Amino acid sequence: MSPNLDELLSAAQADIAAAADARALDALRVDLLGKKGRVTEMLKSLGGMVPDERKVFGEQVNRVRDALNAALDARGNTLAGVALQARLASETIDVTLPGRGIGVGGLHPITRTIQRISGLFNELGFETVEGPEIEDDFHNFQALNIPESHPARAMQDTFYLKDGARLLRTHTSPVQIRTMLARKAPIRIICPGRVYRVDYDRTHSPMFHQIEGLYIAEKVSLADLKYDITTFLSRFFERDVEALFRPSYFPFVEPGADVHIKWEDPEKGTRWLEVMGCGMVHPNVLKAVGIDPEQFSGYAFGMGVERMAMLRYGVSDLRDFFTNDLRFLAQFQ
Ligand code: DAH
Repeated sequence: MSPNLDELLSAAQADIAAAADARALDALRVDLLGKKGRVTEMLKSLGGMVPDERKVFGEQVNRVRDALNAALDARGNTLAGVALQARLASETIDVTLPGRGIGVGGLHPITRTIQRISGLFNELGFETVEGPEIEDDFHNFQALNIPESHPARAMQDTFYLKDGARLLRTHTSPVQIRTMLARKAPIRIICPGRVYRVDYDRTHSPMFHQIEGLYIAEKVSLADLKYDITTFLSRFFERDVEALFRPSYFPFVEPGADVHIKWEDPEKGTRWLEVMGCGMVHPNVLKAVGIDPEQFSGYAFGMGVERMAMLRYGVSDLRDFFTNDLRFLAQFQ
């Protein structure tokens, strides 16, 4: 082989062996064997040679070309292997790490409290019944012995719909009326649901939840009311609850009472906390729904779900239930 070709081959082989990556290798391939590559140009020059010369030189250049192709392929394979190893090393995953897991949702503490209260009354024979949140004056007030301009309405200011006839119910008591109109006595129901009032502070929210209870049958007495309520409260708070029935006024019951429970407060000492209203269903209410007050009697009660949840879980600001901060809510799961 001519010394020139020899030199070119060994220099090119050294360059190829030293190519650091696929791009450098490609540049060498173009420089040597591309359309205008150095070796390609030599091959092109064969055409202008005399036959003898062409035969000798042609063979040599072809060998050089084959040797370069082989060297380029070999280096290419090596570089591909190196790149693969680097990728494998950088992309390793530690299969021993614990999984991230899927966040499991849970029920809102108010939902849990409603289910708990309803469940306890279901055990006492009460059926769960629901009613509409948009009510009319008749069911929310009049049939409950709260005529227009009755002072009791002042405590239950609410949101009115544009038609002026409908309103967002201020309590779950209208479900009593709807059920008594739709069914015949005896009736024993528990009615959970949302209610609305124009109120907002640490212990009031414009939307909150109540649970209403109603028991209508022959000879239902105040003793039944006291027994059932006390039984429920003891089961709810999981201890023997001491309950006090303090006379109070609600237009739809007579007599009416606020129920207070004895509460040992670590800071404030022994206190009596109001937890619900109750009483014997007023004869005017029974008459409004076509039940004969001479034949049937009954008791009713209503309690705030948030209040019960606050006492049970030790929550001091009712608004925490509705700001949807997961750090607060997740504690109840
Ligand atoms: N509806 C009353 C309120 O929202 C609560 C209540 C009191 C319901 C006495 C009753 C009851 O059924 O007998 O303030």
